[in-house]
Amino acid sequence: MNIRPRRNRRTAAIRNMVRETRMTTDNLIYPLFLIDGKGIKSEISSLPGNYRWSLDTLIPEMEECLELGLRNFVIFPAVEEALKDKIATYSYAEDNFYLEATRQLKEKFPETCLISDVAMDPYSSDGHDGLVENGKILNDETLPILAKMSVAQAQAGFDIIAPSDMMDGRVGAIREALDTAGYINTGIMSYTAKYASAFYGPFRDALDSAPKAGDKKTYQMDPANKMEGLREAMLDEEEGADYMMVKPALNYLDVIALLKDNTTLPIAAYHVSGECAMLIAACQNGWLNFEQAMPETLLSIKRAGADVILTYFAKQFARIQRGLEISL
Ligand code: PBG
Repeated sequence: MNIRPRRNRRTAAIRNMVRETRMTTDNLIYPLFLIDGKGIKSEISSLPGNYRWSLDTLIPEMEECLELGLRNFVIFPAVEEALKDKIATYSYAEDNFYLEATRQLKEKFPETCLISDVAMDPYSSDGHDGLVENGKILNDETLPILAKMSVAQAQAGFDIIAPSDMMDGRVGAIREALDTAGYINTGIMSYTAKYASAFYGPFRDALDSAPKAGDKKTYQMDPANKMEGLREAMLDEEEGADYMMVKPALNYLDVIALLKDNTTLPIAAYHVSGECAMLIAACQNGWLNFEQAMPETLLSIKRAGADVILTYFAKQFARIQRGLEISL
């Protein structure tokens, strides 16, 4: 034998030298759930270790994250039922607590990259991402609502607007609205290939945002489809997206790789709530070792082609990397 691949695996120094993929906290986005009120830190039972925070409890939490090297956060609002209506009016209301909190967070932590979520579901009495009429999700009538929501978020100080609704034409509509309002430097991270997945359960528990009737299959993508992801990618590029996202991540590594090979835009992958919950459950049962299995999981998403990963494990990853204790 003159060829022995094991020679390049012989020592830690050699393995480190030839390692192809490296994970750092720079590439991570930490999802956080915000709720109106004071002194609240309520755990999401289906996603242990994750909480709905009120602004006053979120601030020290974010300080801790910044000390660990995390800079990027996507923030989701948990809106009380009484404020929801058919047209998601609260999403751009003057007294919206999510927008007000963002103003304060951006002022307090100017070095952070704050990312929003654009879709009607957290504000909609129907629990859908678009406008519902006679059981149908209307596309074109939803676009102005998303555009208004996006401008309000840009105004509040979000660095990046992230439409997760999967309406046709929304990236273009949002780009135009942002530019018209003068927010030419606010980025758009499009949920490009977002699948109608069974893995969003804990997230919908967190926001109490599950659809009241029907499912999301007429707008979110069929898990069987890959080329359709490429079609969405081509449209998002044309419409002015700055980043493209694949969601979920682990069950869709092939889609991440496909999009990465077909665009010059950075690719983000959303390691969604259900994917994280599965791993937590196995580790809590003692069936897997969290400190080993979790970083391997994130690495696999990066290796597939994701430049950026949204994961509920961001903080634990940062702690492990720094040799700090973690609790499950
Ligand atoms: C809202 C939205 C969802 C997620 C992110 N934005 C839920 C959904 O589409 O039903 C899911 C994220 C997760 O599961 O972690 N449109």
